This record gives sequence, structure tokens and C-alpha cells, in this order.
Amino acid sequence: MALLIACSSRAEQFAAEIRALEPGLNLRIEPNVGQAADIEAALVWQPPPGLLARLPGLRLIVSVGAGVDGLLADPTLPKVPLVRFVDPDLTGRMAEYITLQVLYHQRRMSEFRDLQTQRVWRYLPEPAASDVRVGLMGLGVLGRAAADALRPFGYRLRGWSRTPKTVEGVVSFCGPEGLDAFLAETDILAVLLPLTQETRGLVNRGLLGRLSRHGRSPLLPGPALINAGRGGLQVDRDIVAALQSGELYAASLDVFETEPLPAASPLWQHPRVVVTPHNAAESAPAAIARYALRQWRAYNSGAALDHVVDRTRGY
Ligand code: NAP
Ligand code: GLV
Repeated sequence: MALLIACSSRAEQFAAEIRALEPGLNLRIEPNVGQAADIEAALVWQPPPGLLARLPGLRLIVSVGAGVDGLLADPTLPKVPLVRFVDPDLTGRMAEYITLQVLYHQRRMSEFRDLQTQRVWRYLPEPAASDVRVGLMGLGVLGRAAADALRPFGYRLRGWSRTPKTVEGVVSFCGPEGLDAFLAETDILAVLLPLTQETRGLVNRGLLGRLSRHGRSPLLPGPALINAGRGGLQVDRDIVAALQSGELYAASLDVFETEPLPAASPLWQHPRVVVTPHNAAESAPAAIARYALRQWRAYNSGAALDHVVDRTRGY
């Protein structure tokens, strides 16, 4: 039996951590697949399309990412259990990222940064957290962790998901029928949805135009968007247009339709846009190695696997 690591980045780091935990394991690192028939499990991030279909003995796929849209886009992906990465390391980092960006917009930091570039010392009134409504799109593992991290500040939390949810301190909306009411009650929108056929392109001009403009936070100059889900959820040019028209005041974007973000994108230079390189929650290799081995041992002992992707839902 062999475990294949097929990752477009950090493959050697994952291998080093796995070797440290299980020195006897027969480990292969793509492109050095060796005898394909030996490989029973694969740890993957952006593997070459079609690669996994060429492994006749494959029984388990472990995704380095929490999001599996890229894997599911490969029509040849073998129909063996696919588990996604869900771990306190990733979840904690994402909760930090969302909290950081929510605070940034609540505390009007894009304006203070702008004033700093002009060497202007100016007071700006700022809303209390309890006057700001944060709308979490996606109330899964990461959306709920973001809610837990934001709650102690006193933000007024709203959440939107496919099915109804009960989360402490969060007013829950669901489905297409709940979307307008959710947006109308949102000052800062934080997107933590998976990319599926239903969610692709959802964060477009029409949606941004429905964000609250008349909320409880008159001190905020306008709505702000945070997207740490997937770039395919948003329409980049619509975000630029909404920023220009004033429908959107500011944004923090970790993901983009094209990654890396092309140098020509106006988002790079926009004074009220924070650009990060899809690193909102880049997990430590040790955590990923531990998780992959735990799932592989569970599979071999016949125990239930955690976080198996539902291929019909697409997440
Ligand atoms: P999750 O636990 O599967 O939660 C997904 C949430 O989205 C659920 O609440 C689900 O609703 C909701 N949802 C899915 N489709 C929907 C739809 N059509 N309409 C409304 N709500 C919908 O996923 P997660 O672990 O929180 O991760 C979310 C995403 O974050 C991942 O898929 C990945 O793309 C992204 N991510 C990004 C980074 C980064 O570094 N930027 C890191 C990790 C993950 P139900 O609960 O009702 O099904
Ligand atoms: C990163 O984007 C992930 O899906 O974990």
C-alpha cells in the first residue's frame, strides 16, 4: 500500500510531516508515482486533472482544502470517498481573518490608511460594534466559527445558509427566499460559501446593490464586502463597478475569479480594497499530515470517515 501526495504546492512539507508521524509508510510524491497499482490513498491539492483516475487501487482521497470545487470539476475523479480538510488549525485561522477584516471595516481603517498617505491627522466618528450588522454567507464550519469569534465584540450577527440554522446570537436566513431580507440587514457581508453550481457568480452587482444602506450604523460610509470563500462566487468587475458607484464602500478579498490576481486588475490599486493572496486560512503542514493519517487509519479500521463530501450537493 502507498500514499500519494499530489499537491501543486508544499508537497515536500506534507511528506516530511507524514514521514515524521509514520516513518514506515510507503510515500510517493507526484510526479514520481511509481507503480500506480500500489497507491490506495491520495492527499491532494490541485492534482493534475485525470491523475487520480489512473490509480486502479485508489480507495480514499483526502483534500488539503476545505473547499473541493476544483476536485469535483474533474469529471474523471474516481468515485471513492472524498474527505475535505476540517481542522481547528484551519478554522482558527479563518476566524482570525474574518474578525480582522470586520474590525478593519467597522473601525474605518481604509479611510485612516488613506488619510495617512496624505499625512492628514483627522478624527472620524466610528460606530460601536453593537451598531454594526455583520452578515455571514455560509453558516457551516467556518461561518459558525466566524460567528463565535465575532460575538464577544457585540456585533449584530446575521447568517444565510441553504437550510435553516440555530446558532447562538445569529439571526438565521436561508434559501433564495431569505436572501433579500438577509442582505437588507447587512452592513458588512462576509462570504464563506462553497463554490457550487448554485453559488457561482452569486456575489454580483445585483446582490451588492441589495446590501443595507439604511441600517443602524449611520457612521459607516457604506457597505463592505469580505470574500474568503472562493473567487468563483464573485464577479470581480461587478465589485469594481459597485465600488465606483458607491453601492459598495470597501472590500477585503482573499479570493478572485483568476488567481493569482492579474497585475492589470483595478482591485490591486483601489484605496478601499484589501487584497490577500488566498491565504485567509492556509493550514500548517503538520495539521494536514495528522488529519490525512487519521482519516487513512479510520478507513482501514472500518471506522466512519469525517467530513465526507456530498458529491450531489457539491460540498
Ligand atoms: P461547510 O461547512 O460545508 O459550510 C458551507 C455553508 O454554505 C453551509 O452553511 C451551507 O448551508 C452553505 N451553503 C452551501 N450552498 C448554499 C446555497 N446554495 N445557498 C445558501 N447557503 C449555501 O464549509 P466550510 O468548511 O465552512 O467552508 C466554506 C468554504 O470556505 C469552502 O468551501 C472553501 O471554498 C472556503 N475556504 C476558503 C479558504 C481560504 O483560505 N480562503 C480556506 C478554507 C475554506 P447548509 O449548512 O444549509 O448546507
Ligand atoms: C482553501 O482555500 C481551502 O479550501 O481550504
